[in-house]
Amino acid sequence: MESRVIIRGAKRVQGQITLPGDKSISHRAAMMAAIAEGTSHITNYSSSADCGATLSCLEKLGVRIRRSDNEVVIDGAGARGLSQPAGDLDCANSGTTMRLLSGILAGQDFISTLTGDASLSSRPMQRIIEPLRMMGAQIAAQDGRAPLRVAGKQQLRAIDYELLTASAQVKSCVLLAGLHAEGRTLVIENEITRDHTERMLRWFGVAIESGKPDREPENACFAAVTGPAKLHASDVNVPGDISSAAFFIAAAALLTESSLEIANVGLNPTRIAFLDQLRRMGFALNATDQREESNEPVGNLQLAGRRLERQDRDGQLRIDSRIIPQLIDELPLLAVVGSQIKGGLEIRDARELRVKESDRIAATVAGLRAMGCEVEEFADGLRVGGPTPLRGAQINPHGDHRIAMSFAIAGLVAKGETEILDAECVAVSFPEFFQLLGSVIS
Ligand code: S3P
Repeated sequence: MESRVIIRGAKRVQGQITLPGDKSISHRAAMMAAIAEGTSHITNYSSSADCGATLSCLEKLGVRIRRSDNEVVIDGAGARGLSQPAGDLDCANSGTTMRLLSGILAGQDFISTLTGDASLSSRPMQRIIEPLRMMGAQIAAQDGRAPLRVAGKQQLRAIDYELLTASAQVKSCVLLAGLHAEGRTLVIENEITRDHTERMLRWFGVAIESGKPDREPENACFAAVTGPAKLHASDVNVPGDISSAAFFIAAAALLTESSLEIANVGLNPTRIAFLDQLRRMGFALNATDQREESNEPVGNLQLAGRRLERQDRDGQLRIDSRIIPQLIDELPLLAVVGSQIKGGLEIRDARELRVKESDRIAATVAGLRAMGCEVEEFADGLRVGGPTPLRGAQINPHGDHRIAMSFAIAGLVAKGETEILDAECVAVSFPEFFQLLGSVIS
């Protein structure tokens, strides 16, 4: 693919599409299959570079993997069966690979080093180092950042751990380490984060407890595993990625003549807050054929464009802590949509965006301003006025796939041309993005 892509205004998105497998679910399916007993077949495995990095790391840990297109067959090595890698484990751009794999490696009796690209090497890892050290693993880092040298221990200590940051990656890391601990490892979160790890552990035969603790705040919930635990190989059919679908859903919402169906997409309740926000903005969005696949809710989405009109008219739309973790990856895109609705949109309590693949608050603010929006930047979010007629601009995504795709969608409603620099970065989560977009716009 060319490294720069030009986007022009469009009238509609139309047709029927399916999306590559969900990235978060694919990571978990591969990692759990690798430590299970027996052979697991994964279909519709994510085509993302991130999930490719997970497979390469697992291979370096001695796991036998066969891959053809989006089917992956993994011969599980068993809970303690990974072997010391000959070199570093390169997690590339993938925070999920680094944080979840660290949890697994904490319980293996060898030393391994996890590295990443420049972006990943600047992201905070203290959040996993601290609980893993409490459990008995030895982890060396550079000022709380990668490379991480993990000296695992066969017998970890079970802990009760309350998350300091609302992060499914940290929760998952501790639960995966908990598989190797003697006794019950409990993770409490004060905001609900995606629960794919809990669902996948159950799918692989682990008895995991989860629910609401008897305490404040209202959103608090917990998950617990009792170790040492064994995983049984299981076949997984990965649903289409709802976070990739979000770009097409936003395009359908913004282009009033649209009519689009997205088949077989993940509709896990902890991932669909973006859809709820679009509904609040008056977007018609219908989920049909809802079912479960490999313990994950799935369905088809029918989308019909029409003028967005706020359902609740009391001031500006404000997105804050209660739902932030459930649409964390969609926030830059939501800000783009917000620039087109009456009253605009305010996002707060989203400091985490500053430590994603790029500083997503800064990148979103810069992109929106370049396209003509009035934007106020906060340490923990932004406020964009709307509705604002967008004008085409040059966008630097700072190597961040979701920024590149969010502004490609903005380009569809802008006057003139929008140039997305370094556009190949979309391959981190969605290599087919521009091709698929080209096939539905007119
Ligand atoms: C992910 C969790 C989120 C999300 C990331 C994938 C996961 O990160 O931003 O893209 O698969 O668990 P945090 O849980 O750290 O916010």
